[in-house]
Amino acid sequence: MRRCEQKGTEYAMRILVLNGSPKKKSDTFRMTEAFLRGMDKEQENVIDVINVIEKNIAPCKGCFGCWQKKDGHCVIQDDQNEILDLYVKADVIIWSFPLYCYSMPSHLKAVLDRTIPLVKKGMVEESNGTIHHEALVDFSKIHTVVISGCGFPDWEGNFDALKQMCNTCFGNLEMVCVPEAPLLNIPEAAIVAEPLLESFEKAGAEYASNLKLSDETKKILETPMISKEEYLRGING
Ligand SMILES: Cc1cc2nc3c(=O)[nH]c(=O)nc-3n(C[C@H](O)[C@H](O)[C@H](O)COP(=O)(O)O)c2cc1C
Repeated sequence: MRRCEQKGTEYAMRILVLNGSPKKKSDTFRMTEAFLRGMDKEQENVIDVINVIEKNIAPCKGCFGCWQKKDGHCVIQDDQNEILDLYVKADVIIWSFPLYCYSMPSHLKAVLDRTIPLVKKGMVEESNGTIHHEALVDFSKIHTVVISGCGFPDWEGNFDALKQMCNTCFGNLEMVCVPEAPLLNIPEAAIVAEPLLESFEKAGAEYASNLKLSDETKKILETPMISKEEYLRGING
């Protein structure tokens, strides 16, 4: 376990949570809260939660003014620079959001687009043929967790575009994609939702000690709470 010092007080990790659900009662955030509870079980973390929908974050205007300034900040004067400051300080960044049109909600995508001040204009070709921009900050120390809930029952392909994007954008990534997420806020479904939330809490504890999730844990978290047939019957009546 990594320990960091902040103004004399010791804490284990600095965690930035980017909550991308626009809803007050987010299905996805229930899982994220349970995960955070688990992460906090054996250690004291510093956790910053940003409800992105409440922030004033304009879309990137593509001016590359950040590449002139090279100070890790955007030229647009809104709430993004505060997020960038937290981003570079974080040990773990949790992106928590519902799947929207096979990707992330647009207000959260604006946050991702506007992390471009953290890289430079220069391009690097990796041995596997991928090309990315040179880093301005040390990304190797940042660990990323993506927790995404979606409304469809499990079907192959629903999360493919998101997985492709996240695997390319983020290093040190763990990703958990959960079908049937609306069940998490339906009281009658508590009998299947509560065990999943308990599993998320355990997963948080596992992640806090290893900065990794085992394949077995991911399988438990991503297993549908009820069968596709039962879910579709419930939706379609
Ligand atoms: C605009 C919009 C687009 C959506 N696109 C998808 C989708 O591509 N696949 C899917 O399974 N669910 C989709 N959903 C359903 C949400 O992912 C689902 O309701 C989720 O549980 C909401 O999570 P939240 O309460 O955390 O916001 C979409 C919902 C909205 C409003």
